[in-house]
Amino acid sequence: MAQAHTPTGHEKIETSNFLMIVLILVAVAIGGLVEIVPLFFQRSTTQAAPGVKPYGALQLAGRDIYIREGCYNCHSQMVRPFRAETLRYGPYSTAGEFVYDHPFQWGSKRTGPDLQRVGGRYTDEWHRVHLNNPRDLVPESNMPAYPWLAATSLDPADMAPKLTALRRLGVPYSDAEVAGAADVVKGKTELDALVAYLQVLGTAAK
Ligand code: HEC
Repeated sequence: MAQAHTPTGHEKIETSNFLMIVLILVAVAIGGLVEIVPLFFQRSTTQAAPGVKPYGALQLAGRDIYIREGCYNCHSQMVRPFRAETLRYGPYSTAGEFVYDHPFQWGSKRTGPDLQRVGGRYTDEWHRVHLNNPRDLVPESNMPAYPWLAATSLDPADMAPKLTALRRLGVPYSDAEVAGAADVVKGKTELDALVAYLQVLGTAAK
């Protein structure tokens, strides 16, 4: 004789789609919060690593050009803690190196090499020639050429609002730095700015 069977306890959950989905979401949300929330309060993720300074006005303008041109589509900026990576690029990245990056440029796609430690590896002139046409230096390169950067001037009026916006996000720019930002980029080209940015990348940890 068949017995009537009413599910109880765990069986009740496993036989109800609704309960199962809701409880999984609750469990994942708790797990996520436990992992993520402490990162907002830990020194190692909220304080600048030794030697890390906010970007100067020219470097900051260069960073925005890096983002505009989509360099992150081919270049990561995060050296992972593996021997093959540290031998090739230098010391692995730490969270405290990115506290002034809004947003950070870690990326995950490496059509070209990681750039987090590229600062100081080449001369300014190397970068200028390379950005103007990578094939002049690396014949097999498939990196696009960016010839317009050298021909385009920066707009000094853009700078104070950029620094002010970052200051709201916690980057400690002084009033004098905000006021002087326009003068720093006056007469400079987008290429000057991008090279200045590349040359400072990762230098604090060297
Ligand atoms: C389509 C993919 C692609 C894009 C987009 C791209 N790159 Fe590259 N990049 C490469 C490749 C591939 C190399 C390696 C060959 C070479 O040196 O040209 C490279 C090399 C470099 C290097 C030399 C790195 C080293 O350690 O030798 C720098 C610096 C660089 N790129 C900067 C940039 C910047 C800045 C931008 C955006 C304006 C950019 N790249 C956009 C593919 C790309």
